Amino acid sequence: MKTARNALAPRYELDERARLSFVRDLRRYVLDELARGLRGDYHAHVEPKLASRRTPTPQAIHGAMRSRDSFRFYSALRTTSQDMLYQYNRAAIERDRERLRVTAARLDARHRHTGSLRLRSDLIVPRSVSAIDIHLMPGSYHTEYEKDDLTMGAVYENRLASSTFGLFGPNLDDIGRSIATFVSMRNPLLRPRAILDLGCTVGHNTGPWKEVYPQAEVYGIDVAAPCLRYARARALSQRRAIHFAQMDARKLDFPDASFDIVFSSMFLHEVPARDIPKVLGEAHRILRPGGLMLHMELPPQNQLSPWDSFYLDWDGHFNNEPFYRGFRAMNLRRIVVAAGFNESNYEQHVVPSLHALGPGAWRAALRSHRTVDGETGRLATGVRWFCFGASKSQ
Ligand SMILES: C[S@@+](CC[C@H](N)C(=O)[O-])C[C@H]1O[C@@H](n2cnc3c(N)ncnc32)[C@H](O)[C@@H]1O
Repeated sequence: MKTARNALAPRYELDERARLSFVRDLRRYVLDELARGLRGDYHAHVEPKLASRRTPTPQAIHGAMRSRDSFRFYSALRTTSQDMLYQYNRAAIERDRERLRVTAARLDARHRHTGSLRLRSDLIVPRSVSAIDIHLMPGSYHTEYEKDDLTMGAVYENRLASSTFGLFGPNLDDIGRSIATFVSMRNPLLRPRAILDLGCTVGHNTGPWKEVYPQAEVYGIDVAAPCLRYARARALSQRRAIHFAQMDARKLDFPDASFDIVFSSMFLHEVPARDIPKVLGEAHRILRPGGLMLHMELPPQNQLSPWDSFYLDWDGHFNNEPFYRGFRAMNLRRIVVAAGFNESNYEQHVVPSLHALGPGAWRAALRSHRTVDGETGRLATGVRWFCFGASKSQ
């Protein structure tokens, strides 16, 4: 299905386009060539010393690599290029702020009865969001610079678009699209009435659920008001009726047994370990018996090779992601069961990317058994999505 153009898409000037094109190439160089060099350095010089004991842990690899020039150069260029992406996008968004606000207001006035937006000025943004410039994003998700501000939503979307090499598809929604389609194929009898996306940010991965299940009421919640305003305008400009609400996933404002699917993507690794049981417990509470909880996430440490885990954990050390490694160390089956789900209902999947493969090859790929490897959940040409969860017992 062709998605309508996002009316909030940035209007870069020529010099901004040139800068972004430069920094995209720089990132490609870092993530492809420098990453290959890093691995070569490890195998040639570090692994022989480490492996003489026993299989090294990701932490031991990190300890041994962090003083190597290959790693320091890789890390410095990666953080610098990340910073440049924010700066360059930010300049264009600052200039465009008024147009964004006017466009959002017009869309809202024109489509007042399509979906909804519920903000709560009394909601306390958790310190795990407000005290950290998460993944080096100045202002995190929640900062508001003026009334009805959308800036941080625009920053998030445009930084994502300019740093992911098109791997998330033209509408940045490949995770939601691949997983929603996968769920519908696996459960052909499922007719969800209500679907919820936790930590939806700008709703890019919420939208596909409405496409796959048009009869369902689809909700996206987040604590960050500027992202939710942006999400609503984005959804309206794409003719999608989605309900966005400012809410804390640790204490949802929905009645018991009111949803058939609770989904999240790239959310849990930004939640402190002590809060994850609360989030999963809330998901269990609001699911109807038979309903499905599914979280797309980074693959856990114990399901990747030590090298791949070390490589993935880079963000936990240098990208202002303080909860990342704690999440990856968790036993997923155990936390799902602790939240009230029956152990025999636990499930996890590796879903190929619909955007990368196209529908025909994607269906064929689903037939072969997929296991987690170094390309799962990472921006790589063979990208695929890891997800885990459980259905609630009837
Ligand atoms: C990495 S982003 C999620 C990205 C998005 N779901 C996607 O598919 O790319 C994490 C989001 O979770 C939100 N968040 C963090 N803690 C939260 C909480 N306790 N309740 C609701 N949202 C939260 C943040 O504001 C942010 O928008």
